[in-house]
Amino acid sequence: MLRMEKLNCSYGECKVLHDTSLEIKEGSLIGLIGRNGVGKTTTLKSIMGLVPHRSGSVHFYETNLSGLPPYKIPRMGIAYMPQGRHLFPKLTVMENLRIPVVKGELDKEVLEEIFVYFPRLKERLKQKAGTLSGGEQQMLAVGRALITKPKMMLMDEPMEGLMPLLVKLIAETVKAINEKGTTILLVEQNLKTIKNMCQGIYIMEKGTVVYEGTPSELESAIDIQERYLSVKV
Ligand SMILES: Nc1ncnc2c1ncn2[C@@H]1O[C@H](COP(=O)(O)OP(=O)(O)OP(=O)(O)O)[C@@H](O)[C@H]1O
Ligand SMILES: [Mg+2]
Repeated sequence: MLRMEKLNCSYGECKVLHDTSLEIKEGSLIGLIGRNGVGKTTTLKSIMGLVPHRSGSVHFYETNLSGLPPYKIPRMGIAYMPQGRHLFPKLTVMENLRIPVVKGELDKEVLEEIFVYFPRLKERLKQKAGTLSGGEQQMLAVGRALITKPKMMLMDEPMEGLMPLLVKLIAETVKAINEKGTTILLVEQNLKTIKNMCQGIYIMEKGTVVYEGTPSELESAIDIQERYLSVKV
């Protein structure tokens, strides 16, 4: 469904991605992990066309995304949930949910689905996003990514900074969204959080993918965990 091949990207003179390759099959939930600053966010941004590609390619089905203007990429069915939520604090919950919808009305069925996952959002539709708790803001960010019924979701640390109970809620929701048919690429810091959710895991280090395996393969690859995840096993 999505194939990134030897992608190279830089911010100005600073090379950030080096020959990064990934393959995400339709229907899967794949984790992308690695330490701070290794290029996880940049990898997602490169798919969304938010950083220029120097060489290599990203294909979504048969379409090469390299060189497409960024506004066209969500329209192909890829939704992006950026790290740190990026909500509009002065807009209400409902107005934030509307943002990705280019024209027409909100799909009522999707809205109901979002409220089944997060009943709290339904109670707070007229509340300004900036006044929501951190957990509620994270729910809204997930909801906003779902609203266009994407084929694929790129989620950048949706559980970041949340207390364990909310980490569990978001993790279960991400899994449920995947089980309903949306393919997901999930960026996370912590292997433990996602090992029971994902079918496959990629590890990044210094701007490139250095490992690919199933969660159970990675669990037994203790040397890999120590080398790339700072985990003392
Ligand atoms: N806009 C930018 N301009 C210049 N350099 C950047 C920019 N954004 C990120 N970088 C650099 O690119 C590298 C990769 O950053 P990136 O945000 O992709 O890492 P990350 O793996 O998502 O880290 P984290 O786990 O902290 O979110 C870092 O060295 C970072 O300093
Ligand atoms: Mg990041």
